[in-house]
Amino acid sequence: LADPSFSSAVIAWQRAHGRHALPWQNTRDAYRVWLSEIMLQQTQVAAVLGYYARFLERFPTVHALAAAPIEDVMAHWSGLGYYTRARNLHACARRVVDQYGGAFPPDPLLLAELPGIGRSTAAAIAAFSGGVRAAILDGNVKRVFARVFGIDSYPGEKRTEDALWRRAQALLPEGEGIESYTQGLMDLGATLCTRASPACERCPLRERCVAFATGRTAELPVRKPK
Ligand code: ADE
Repeated sequence: LADPSFSSAVIAWQRAHGRHALPWQNTRDAYRVWLSEIMLQQTQVAAVLGYYARFLERFPTVHALAAAPIEDVMAHWSGLGYYTRARNLHACARRVVDQYGGAFPPDPLLLAELPGIGRSTAAAIAAFSGGVRAAILDGNVKRVFARVFGIDSYPGEKRTEDALWRRAQALLPEGEGIESYTQGLMDLGATLCTRASPACERCPLRERCVAFATGRTAELPVRKPK
């Protein structure tokens, strides 16, 4: 499954064409990275920007967030939706302060034990805040992989998801560049390899993409079976 040219292509594309000026980029502050990844879990970048700025102004550190009343946290989340995220966010801040003295652990396995942080979010936080080599697999990345590798089983099914995680792990860059690679996969999925109208003509993975070669971008990833 390994193929160093895959990560090289993603990294080169990210450096030339990806997003570089988002407010949670160009920082290794795990608190800021964590907050952005939780806000971005079910919400698009454009909707997150204002909330992110106001939230950080009111809660500039994990200590400030942990000490705040939940009502205050909910008020600053109001309008973003998926409110379980806000409750978990507050619980997570308290755990980081109580259990880790306010420092997020760098190990993705430990991050994934905290409230609201799943395996993929843990990997993103570890990669962006600590340069840790860990694989992400969110909905956008599943779509990219399903198309590039022509995976024609439903990605929500356990067997398929396990296989996608194995691929994600095997495709990680060997040397430097985990931040660019991780951001590049996210940006490809969000901006080029979209569900309804993929911009294949601009895609750095076009030449290796099974869906492109076989004219199946509209059918992949396959929909949930009924
Ligand atoms: N979606 C999830 N994480 C993201 C990030 N770091 N940048 C842009 N979109 C994202």
